[in-house]
Amino acid sequence: MNKRDFVRTMGGGAAAMVFGPDINALFASYAHVPAGELAQDAQFWATMRTKFKLTPNYINLENGYYCFQPEEVLDQFIGHVRSINVEASHYMRTTRLEDKARVAGKLAEMLGCSPKEVIITRNTTESLDTVVSGYDWKPGDEAVMANQDYGAMIDQFRLVARRYGMVNKFVDVPLHPKSDEEVVQIYADAITPRTRLLMVCHIINITGHILPIAKISDMAHARGVDVMVDGAHAVAHFEYKIPDLRCDYYGSSLHKWLSAPLGSGMLYVKEDKIASLWPVFSEFRRADTDILKLNHTGTHPCHTDLGIENAIAFHQAIGGARKEARLRYIQQYWTSRVRGTPKIVLNTPVDPSRSCGVANVGIEGMTPADVAKTLLDKYKIFTVAINGNGVHGVRVSPQIYTSTAELDAFVKALKEMAA
Ligand SMILES: Cc1ncc(COP(=O)(O)O)c(C=O)c1O
Repeated sequence: MNKRDFVRTMGGGAAAMVFGPDINALFASYAHVPAGELAQDAQFWATMRTKFKLTPNYINLENGYYCFQPEEVLDQFIGHVRSINVEASHYMRTTRLEDKARVAGKLAEMLGCSPKEVIITRNTTESLDTVVSGYDWKPGDEAVMANQDYGAMIDQFRLVARRYGMVNKFVDVPLHPKSDEEVVQIYADAITPRTRLLMVCHIINITGHILPIAKISDMAHARGVDVMVDGAHAVAHFEYKIPDLRCDYYGSSLHKWLSAPLGSGMLYVKEDKIASLWPVFSEFRRADTDILKLNHTGTHPCHTDLGIENAIAFHQAIGGARKEARLRYIQQYWTSRVRGTPKIVLNTPVDPSRSCGVANVGIEGMTPADVAKTLLDKYKIFTVAINGNGVHGVRVSPQIYTSTAELDAFVKALKEMAA
């Protein structure tokens, strides 16, 4: 294969742009290795690990909050900070909006939507709270969500309940469902003739459980209910296109699995739903049907918008399917070594298609806080304790730089603690 062919196979020009010639040679030798096989290739992932600057102080198994940028992407981001610092107002008054539209267009392309349906936000909170606040709620209107949803969004629903007299209904998502239909039915049972909006996590952040969104959307739409998906942990974690989920609204944080600069997110609003949403910050010069009416947050750090483009290039150079396969492989690597061990409780479904990189583990007889503290103090392993909504354990979120040696150390620590 010639050089042009392998660069194209591994992600086209993106690979050339993000990685130097040394890494292109590595990609060339792996160009035709299927994702599932590559997931287990220690040499390939050891090279990817060199792309990140890691702290020597602990093994970081808590990338779900924020996964820092790889060094090359960070350098490009710092370059944007520097050049905007020089161009300053001139940049703001000339190409800023054009640049933002171009990057939003790349996000839209990556997620399979029209550029008319996607805006760049600061995070999932801004994205989804914009939708919740943008509804024209009437007293007695209802929304359905789960106790396992993220607190910030639930709080926003509580705020609109106080303000407009709408009503929130909560369901519990089982830790180990037997089928998609079981999950769909739980949401269906909470819908009444007053229900207008259903919020559902694409992947529940505390357990790593991936939910059957398309089936939930079909069920809700059949009952006249809109669907808003919390995809905070989904973009660049596993592969999908938003239209295939058949939802109406979708929000994500790009500083999580895409490793984009801190404070970057996206909002998708299905084209025919834009007109009826009220903006949080007014932008009355725009048509009601223009999604940019939801994007007026004043002057903000727009170098972050530019950094998203570099993060997308890095992600696409590796390949979304390859990354998904690696993340699922390393989660299964450690969970399969502790599942069934006395006193070790896994709070993530066993079926590999119902999770990807994230999982949650508890130890009987220890509080989640004690497990997290012992892991950090004694074993120098950083995780986060989760204690509530039926989940008692630590959330474990490795990244593509995580080595199996680190996971061996984690497995050993868990077994010692359980014993
Ligand atoms: C499921 C879920 N939704 C929303 C958020 C909020 O993300 P952000 O703080 O980036 O807005 C998080 C953060 O971890 C999350 O896990």
